[in-house]
Amino acid sequence: MKKKIAILCSGGDVSGMNPALKRFVEYAIARGMEPYFVYHGFEGLIDNRIVPAGYADVSGIITRGGTKIGSARSERFKESSYRTIAAENLRSHGIGMLIVLGGDGSFRGMEQFYREQGIAFCGIPSTIDNDINGTDYCLGVDTALGVIRDSIDQIRDTAASFRRAFVIETMGRNCGYLALVSALTSGAELCLIPEIPADIDEYKPCFISQVEHGRDYFIAVVSEALRNSDKVAAWFEAELGFETRVAVLGHTQRGGNPSVYDRLMAYRFVTYAIDALSEGKSDSVICYSKSHFVF
Ligand code: F6P
Repeated sequence: MKKKIAILCSGGDVSGMNPALKRFVEYAIARGMEPYFVYHGFEGLIDNRIVPAGYADVSGIITRGGTKIGSARSERFKESSYRTIAAENLRSHGIGMLIVLGGDGSFRGMEQFYREQGIAFCGIPSTIDNDINGTDYCLGVDTALGVIRDSIDQIRDTAASFRRAFVIETMGRNCGYLALVSALTSGAELCLIPEIPADIDEYKPCFISQVEHGRDYFIAVVSEALRNSDKVAAWFEAELGFETRVAVLGHTQRGGNPSVYDRLMAYRFVTYAIDALSEGKSDSVICYSKSHFVF
């Protein structure tokens, strides 16, 4: 009898999940397994939205952002009675292995699920926030950074034309990674992130000197974690006399077609996950650390 393996997406979707689904189906079949999709994350596990997957389901999806099988944040999966139903659903299909694309919370849920129900799982870090302990890279980050880069480049055009300051707010939940990398790679004048407390007034003399030497626009990249974009905008108006606009990039950062790097990482993460489960690893998360994959 062929072994059956399922995959689901949990939490905020990322661009890179569809390439991961494609590799999952193709590699599972190549290894003699039967692949299954679970639609809408842990919610779908509870509602038995578990269906066999084949080549036709994944043809053409490598270019698309989001996830073909949907994602969700499940409150019900936090309750053990619903986890029992989820396990019964998997067993009714004969599935004993599950790959989860998600973040920390999803992996904690799976760890508990494994301890209670013995369903083997392998987690693949997938969040644009890049905030999962132990891995240097989470699927989707590179595409999100590309989206932010494009937005900032475009905002710069109008900022320069209008002699304005722009405060650009990036996602990341409590983590400043997206803001920091974006600020460094787009030439922003200011970057504010939760990891490094900053007194914005300390920048004033330097900014005034820049204006005196011809600067006529500012780009500030601010992490959503600080919840102070409007205050920073008011500061530019009051202290530097620059008309200022706030641009909240929001969910645009979760979209867009997957970058080459995310397509490649999706391929590699899934390959390692299937190999790990086939070799009997039962409750692991694949981390990408110092250019190597580790469990
Ligand atoms: O965790 C991914 C993320 O996009 C965060 O950066 C952001 O704070 C949050 O999800 C937004 O959540 P929602 O999609 O529920 O609005």
